[in-house]
Amino acid sequence: MGPEELFFSTTDVRGVIRQGNSVFVRVSGYPLDELLGTAHNVVRHPDMPAGAFRLMWDSLAAGTPVAVYVCNRTKAGDHYWVCAVVSPLHDGFVSVRVAPTPEAVDLVSEVYVEAVRVERDAAAAGLSRREVAERGAQAIVATLATYGFSSYEEFMHVALPLEISARGHRVSEAHQRSAATGDVASVLAGTGALADQLDAMVESLATYQALGDELADAAVHVLDMAHRLEVSVHTAQQASALVAEKSPVLSNVARVMAQPMTDAVTALAQLPEDFSRLRGDIGRVRFQIALTALYDEMAAAFAAEVHDGVAPASSLTAVPLLCDAAETSVAEMAAQVEKVNGDLQHVAALVSEAGTLLDDFRRFIGQWRHLVLRHARAALAEQVRPIDEELTTSWQWTEQLRALGRQASSAVVRFDRDAAHAHLEAVREPARRLAAG
Ligand SMILES: Cc1cc2nc3c(=O)[nH]c(=O)nc-3n(C[C@H](O)[C@H](O)[C@H](O)COP(=O)(O)O)c2cc1C
Repeated sequence: MGPEELFFSTTDVRGVIRQGNSVFVRVSGYPLDELLGTAHNVVRHPDMPAGAFRLMWDSLAAGTPVAVYVCNRTKAGDHYWVCAVVSPLHDGFVSVRVAPTPEAVDLVSEVYVEAVRVERDAAAAGLSRREVAERGAQAIVATLATYGFSSYEEFMHVALPLEISARGHRVSEAHQRSAATGDVASVLAGTGALADQLDAMVESLATYQALGDELADAAVHVLDMAHRLEVSVHTAQQASALVAEKSPVLSNVARVMAQPMTDAVTALAQLPEDFSRLRGDIGRVRFQIALTALYDEMAAAFAAEVHDGVAPASSLTAVPLLCDAAETSVAEMAAQVEKVNGDLQHVAALVSEAGTLLDDFRRFIGQWRHLVLRHARAALAEQVRPIDEELTTSWQWTEQLRALGRQASSAVVRFDRDAAHAHLEAVREPARRLAAG
């Protein structure tokens, strides 16, 4: 399987194959007429854990597209790995598969070996086929967790975009045909325009992902500092108590300044959850972009095959279906982009609130120091020094956090859904005409 090649198949709701492309036929070794009308498990490899298919079908049953690494068996008994993407579509499913990166195959092989072992034990213990598959699915999720993925969904949200970006521009350009004319040229122009739009989005999301990571880093430092300053407030309160009779004003200020600090810590402590939501939502958008890019590229590959005379024009009946699948991803993407923008605004508001509270605190502690110098310099010199040090060394993180927060407040991920829709229409119509002959 060449790095730029794409497998294509559609099935009914039970997984019986309805359509396949030339790559599927060539690599699997089955003639097309043997594949059509046959259950997709015809290419199942015995080393594949049932749990991987359980995860796939669970996701499809929930109406959600899924990406799964699959090792398949050819008619001759050889094997080949694919990263399979499957989406619910109309009254069945559509699947596009790419050749996976070797790093992913290494990791997934390890995950699957463990799952197969768990499944073998479960089967030996007399569990039903369904229970065995469930145990396998749990084992897959558990092993992925040791690699830092909190769920299967999170794993595929990371894996698929990596697979698509590893293919790179060179690969998507492999389907462009500068000599194409008429409807084939129109299909390729539309797929190219959508690919460019998706590339631009990937770039802007990468910027916001980096901003989110920087914010998360700064927030950890500021929260750490805030915890230390809380100790300083306590020190200041104790120190003030020592001179309460002579200078009650010190105790009053020390008491009042504790409140903004406590509130700032509360606001800051919420941030990690918001950052993880931002990261998750960006991951979902990235996954939908990768899906759309894949369906778009598959449509281009069909048109290129027709242009090259390798496939008949009738194979372009698959293209409107791919456009429908891409349109669903585009709608999902638009919804997720709104969420990401909401997350960015939310994080910016929290950071700004924490910054204001820390400023209030800083003003109070400045006042307190001033009063100490006036009323109790000799008595409290020892207590003031650590507070001074804490304030001077750690304030820069607050400034950094606020600067990043301001960037987040003006950050907007833009997605022109109408433009994406127009590109897909520009692909769909000429493909339909060509397929109809
Ligand atoms: C669109 C689509 C594509 C599929 N592609 C594959 C595939 O490439 N290899 C595979 O083993 N199973 C594939 N499956 C899953 C099979 O239908 C089946 O669940 C799996 O092979 C396990 O079969 P078994 O439970 O009968 O052992 C696909 C299913 C769908 C809906």
